[in-house]
Amino acid sequence: MKVLYAKESDQLSRWAADRFVEQLKKNPKSILGLATGSTPKKMYEYLGEDTRAGKVSFSQAKSYNLDEYVGLASDHPASYHYFMQEQLFSKVDFPEGANTLPNGVAEDLDKEALTYDRKIQEEGELDILILGIGSNAHIGFNEPNNVFEALTHVVELDESTRQDNSRFFEKIEDVPTHAISMGMRAIMQAKEVLLMAFGENKAEAIRDLVKGKVDPQVPASILQLHPNATILIDEGAASLLSEEDRESL
Ligand code: PGA
Repeated sequence: MKVLYAKESDQLSRWAADRFVEQLKKNPKSILGLATGSTPKKMYEYLGEDTRAGKVSFSQAKSYNLDEYVGLASDHPASYHYFMQEQLFSKVDFPEGANTLPNGVAEDLDKEALTYDRKIQEEGELDILILGIGSNAHIGFNEPNNVFEALTHVVELDESTRQDNSRFFEKIEDVPTHAISMGMRAIMQAKEVLLMAFGENKAEAIRDLVKGKVDPQVPASILQLHPNATILIDEGAASLLSEEDRESL
């Protein structure tokens, strides 16, 4: 696991966007793993600019997202379907039908989760996957737990996660209590993983991920076992690490 530091988060977003551009140049039919949240927004903005400038094309690529809230339809402004449409899909040239997210309003949610997992397995592996990290060290919505859940599953969200994400809703009661999350198998099978963390409220999670032991109570710590994972941290997120723990970008 490589830990890359830059003072400004925009430098890290640019670096991560460049990795996606390189991947798509190497294999235009890449299978991309995508995340929502505040962290990847700038990277998506860069990918939109690069597409407009003709530097990259998504016209043969496909994508799978990490997660979706249970109970929010795709046209709900706080749904991850909506977020992805706004932040990336409308800004780049994916073909119709190339983007898949779990369906949070499926009648049978467990079945939906397993079907989603199977779809990813049928693709082979994700070629490159972008991750954020929760202040509780979740990746996707794999919350601290006694085990690492292998498959896509329905998860009850931690109170801390609902609190962190309440900024996207009018009030805390509106934050869904459950989500469908990609499991650890698809995450660990991705050929390349980039995890970005910005700001001091991620510092503890980053310290535990980088310095702690592999522990399902620190879900992101599983990335210590990934053969090609890069952790991208800005000044705030790096604030509980020492300089030897990281390389400068
Ligand atoms: P954030 O969320 O990018 O909005 O901080 C990250 C996450 O919860 O995984």
